[in-house]
Amino acid sequence: MDKLKVVGPLNLKGSVTISKAKNAYLPLLAATILSDEKIVFGEVPKLRDIGTMNKLLEHLGCKVNPEGSGFSYQLSELATDEAPYELVKTMRASICVLGPMLGRFKKAKVSLPGGCAIGTRPIDLHLKNLEKMGATIVIEGGYVHASTDGLKGAHLVLDFPSVGATENLMMAASLAEGETIIDNAALEPEITDLGNFLISMGAEISGLDSKTIKVKGVKKLSGSHYTAIGDRIEAATYIIGALMTKSPLSIMGFDPGHLDSVLEKLVSMGANIERLENGVRVGVGELKAVDIETAPYPGFPTDVQAQMIALCTQAEGTSIITEQIFENRFMHVPELQRLGADITIKGNSAVVKGLAPLKGAPVMCTDLRASAALVLAAFCSEGETLIQRIYHLERGYEKIEEKFKNLGARIERVAE
Ligand code: UD1
Repeated sequence: MDKLKVVGPLNLKGSVTISKAKNAYLPLLAATILSDEKIVFGEVPKLRDIGTMNKLLEHLGCKVNPEGSGFSYQLSELATDEAPYELVKTMRASICVLGPMLGRFKKAKVSLPGGCAIGTRPIDLHLKNLEKMGATIVIEGGYVHASTDGLKGAHLVLDFPSVGATENLMMAASLAEGETIIDNAALEPEITDLGNFLISMGAEISGLDSKTIKVKGVKKLSGSHYTAIGDRIEAATYIIGALMTKSPLSIMGFDPGHLDSVLEKLVSMGANIERLENGVRVGVGELKAVDIETAPYPGFPTDVQAQMIALCTQAEGTSIITEQIFENRFMHVPELQRLGADITIKGNSAVVKGLAPLKGAPVMCTDLRASAALVLAAFCSEGETLIQRIYHLERGYEKIEEKFKNLGARIERVAE
């Protein structure tokens, strides 16, 4: 297994282009199930999670072919209605195929995603609301067995604005009979991107960017050409990297409006960030501590929490970072402590005392965003940091070493 070797401390310089969003593309790929016509996506990032979703779609009978900067998809005939454990266990977002399978083929057998490193992550909201739309759901042998005579529009109220549940229900509703109202829908930009894509296929959707999304079912959805939004989480990671290393960087290829809560917090710490039309320019400066609580969009994203803790190790004063979305999302903390960070966990908060000197050490990736936090902390650590289990990083950061190397980082992949 490869490792990443980083030699710090270091500075970065230049401009980086952010890839299209993994978390937008995963539901978009699942949505290709809804049509028998060809769908083409551009600028699909080369990531392990995208590869897993492609494999799952191929398993279901979809023809997946490279085309231009992305892939084409066409599911004319279903090969099987089963999303098997081997594929679903490696990526929870596989549950996204449930809604479109039920919508178009009226049946699906999807492995339960099970627990994952950052918490139990149930799918009760997906299942309960699909039942309200007329699905019969039985859980047996570790699988969700779902079937329907035909989904019907319903008034759904989510107990929590779950991103995945909102996406699954929007996709299911787009081929259901009648109108579905999803109240307390998630507001994440990836939801709007999925809505816009479904509309490009002929779906009738209103209320995007609001807590009430309305979907009028149609009989058939057509093919489409589409490119997803830029990856706001990848962008936030590079912005934080610039601030941690006190480096002037331009980070391009995303909508800074999608990062309002993050940028506001960073500016309150003293960061010098200029918003551009399609990115930001980060200036050099000293940072002060900050308090943060993660929350559903437009709140501070849980997917930037780990990187933020890494940043707070470089800010003057004591920061308190509270995780409100997932119950076990501090696995990066013991690894950051190995580098010398002064962090104490109190319940679901991390108390970070800034400016403790960091020193290179062997560390281990535990999940995707935790891994990013380790790379950033390694940039500020004296000497060599060897980062293990980087397959977590490959799930969600396209060409991370190449991109950081182009910015001047001393980072390289080493074989075991
Ligand atoms: C998506 C993102 C993930 C991000 C998360 C929160 C993708 C592929 N993944 O994950 O990167 O961290 O949003 O912004 O887009 N919950 C339930 N029951 C359910 C569904 C969710 O209790 O049926 C809970 C979860 O356990 C969690 C919270 O709701 O505590 C948020 O989960 P959700 O918004 O569904 O996240 P995902 O869609 O899994």
